[in-house]
Amino acid sequence: MRATRLTLALDTGVMQLPATGRILVLGPGRSDDLSALPQDRIVAVQGFRPDHDALLARGLTVVPELPDGPFAMALVCLPRARDAARGMIAAAVARLADGATVVVDGQKTDGVDALYREVRALVPQVSEALAKAHGKLFAFPASAVLADWAVLPRQIGDGFTTLPGVFSANRPDAGSALLAAALPAQMKGRGIDLGAGWGYLSRAALSRADVASLDLVEADHDALTCAKASITDPRAAFYWADATTYRPARPAHWIVCNPPFHVGRDADPATGIAFLNAAARMLVPDGVLWLVANRHLPYDRTLSLLFREVQDLPGTAAFRLTRASRPIPPIRR
Ligand SMILES: C[S@@+](CC[C@H](N)C(=O)[O-])C[C@H]1O[C@@H](n2cnc3c(N)ncnc32)[C@H](O)[C@@H]1O
Repeated sequence: MRATRLTLALDTGVMQLPATGRILVLGPGRSDDLSALPQDRIVAVQGFRPDHDALLARGLTVVPELPDGPFAMALVCLPRARDAARGMIAAAVARLADGATVVVDGQKTDGVDALYREVRALVPQVSEALAKAHGKLFAFPASAVLADWAVLPRQIGDGFTTLPGVFSANRPDAGSALLAAALPAQMKGRGIDLGAGWGYLSRAALSRADVASLDLVEADHDALTCAKASITDPRAAFYWADATTYRPARPAHWIVCNPPFHVGRDADPATGIAFLNAAARMLVPDGVLWLVANRHLPYDRTLSLLFREVQDLPGTAAFRLTRASRPIPPIRR
């Protein structure tokens, strides 16, 4: 879809490639075809580890954090969160050479129409919006007016910092709050927070004095940066990693987890199931997984295949809390 719009935009002149210089591509996903752009001039920024690694495997230059400019052009691949989208545009503008072009491309479902209207209200010389494949692409010369859209870390209370676009950026997730309240007073040994986000569950686990260490494993680079700002406990270690392939240095005694249940807009139980499999692999033989999940998610069968003991704890109509212990080694499943 993005590839079709990029090719069409070049063919119709809505977008023109600069003759030389690096091209900043913000937020491309693993399935985005960027072949309309000169591959060796692309610097892609992608902080979600699985997407980052997939783009890297295609031979692109990919970094998880915004690099220094100047760039000759920027392509912004719109995320869903409006603040994050505006922040990306401001970040692009701040890194472009004078008069260089910002190209914005996004799906209608990600709010590209509203953003087009907003940019047109602030910036002269915005191109027509090229509409194709349920999305739109438009271009405009970098304008300092958009610097106001820059995003800053936000304090949301209790010493937690978040950034637009991270999971549950405005307040703790209700499911995580439920699990935090249900954790036992005594927790000891080595723990892992699988999909740690900005550190809410980790903070709860680290409030137990006998916890020896806690690995925060998180694929979203921004979320992990927030967690590092919020959690200064020396027992915490931070891993920017894909939880489904992460291997701890030593197996953990327990894991806390509120697994992701979406890929983009779609509910995706497969990711949650991959998290459960990964958790079972990471635990010592009598290890415990403390899990919260939306009640409708189909994790029962997987849990009973992976763990000898699966116990439901009091939850709510929306969330199910589970204590799953004694992982079954793969050879016995
Ligand atoms: C439901 S949120 C829970 C976050 C945090 N534990 C909390 O309670 O607020 C799931 C988290 O998993 C992260 N995530 C998604 N896919 C991942 C993956 N493959 N590896 C590691 N983390 C992932 C998301 O970025 C998100 O922060």
